[in-house]
Amino acid sequence: MQVLVTGGAGFLGRRLAARLLERGFLAGADGRQQPIERLVLLDVVAADGFADPRVQVIAGDITDPAVLAQAIGAETMAIFHLAAIVSGQAEADFDLGMRINLDGPRRLLDRCRAVGHRPRVVFTSSVAVYGGDLPAEVQDDTAVRPQSSYGAQKAIGELLLTDYSRKGFVDGRVLRLPTISVRPGRPNKAASSFASGIIREPLNGEAAVCPVPPATRLWLLSPRKAIEALIAGHDLSAEQLGDSRTINLPGVSVSAADMVAALARVAGEAAARVRWEEDAAITRIVGSWPGAWNTSRAEALGLSGDQDFDAIVRAYVEDDLGA
Ligand SMILES: NC(=O)c1ccc[n+]([C@@H]2O[C@H](COP(=O)([O-])OP(=O)(O)OC[C@H]3O[C@@H](n4cnc5c(N)ncnc54)[C@H](O)[C@@H]3O)[C@@H](O)[C@H]2O)c1
Repeated sequence: MQVLVTGGAGFLGRRLAARLLERGFLAGADGRQQPIERLVLLDVVAADGFADPRVQVIAGDITDPAVLAQAIGAETMAIFHLAAIVSGQAEADFDLGMRINLDGPRRLLDRCRAVGHRPRVVFTSSVAVYGGDLPAEVQDDTAVRPQSSYGAQKAIGELLLTDYSRKGFVDGRVLRLPTISVRPGRPNKAASSFASGIIREPLNGEAAVCPVPPATRLWLLSPRKAIEALIAGHDLSAEQLGDSRTINLPGVSVSAADMVAALARVAGEAAARVRWEEDAAITRIVGSWPGAWNTSRAEALGLSGDQDFDAIVRAYVEDDLGA
């Protein structure tokens, strides 16, 4: 089978690609595992560094119909749609966010409809669809009231995927990802970038600023578990999903203070490198997201999160620091 990962040069896209190549199989339309013969990595940035002959790299814009026509054909049976503009950037540049996060998925789905082969499409949504007056524990079907343009674009994308699935154009599934931590590399423009920075920078011997009050709760998942969930979510059958194609992925609910305490447990004095300095804009966006959600449906479907935040810090040390 042919598999497409959009955003294939990004943080999760690269890891997903590496894991798919290692695994070698994915569920086909009939639910049986089929070998991955070709893995197409589409991104505006060329996804370099994959020496595997199964990999085809396309450098192009997801909103360009010619690029989509090159990336999706009748043999493309699995699509992981990860290409997006992150929350802080979509808030700062409204037009860019609308173009990539809204026109992008719509054009991708229209390409699938035009080909007419009903591929499985995994859409990565986010905690940012929620907001406003939230219950203590959010359910998969709690009303979405996004408080950012990114959240609104993701919520609309969810509805599009659901309707294209209802019409039989694709077999879609929406996985709402917690904030992924710990992300290696440099800070990005996501409002939640600090959720990685306050762990990563101190472990690298650098100072870090936490821009939200210590009691702010976050809903977190390690990259390792996120990739596992994307693949397991893909492999669920349409029957298992039933009427609702949207699943809140399991995560761990921690406060910013809990995160720094976990860092102290795993890495001792590194935690002293975190400074608290509130940023009102980040606090407003992150504070509108739920700090916990009920994931009994995901768990019943076999999807799991990390044991606790200490395990997330240890996963970063093992996977990214090579210790
Ligand atoms: N990382 C998180 O904490 C998190 C949480 C919730 C949801 N998500 C979602 O998961 C997905 C992957 O996130 P990530 O952390 O890997 O983000 P990322 O920014 O690292 O990767 C996104 C990729 O999309 C590419 N891209 C942007 N515009 C494009 C375009 N016009 N055409 C083609 N490619 C384009 C970027 O070049 C980038 O490589 C995104 O949809 C994101 O919204 C991530």
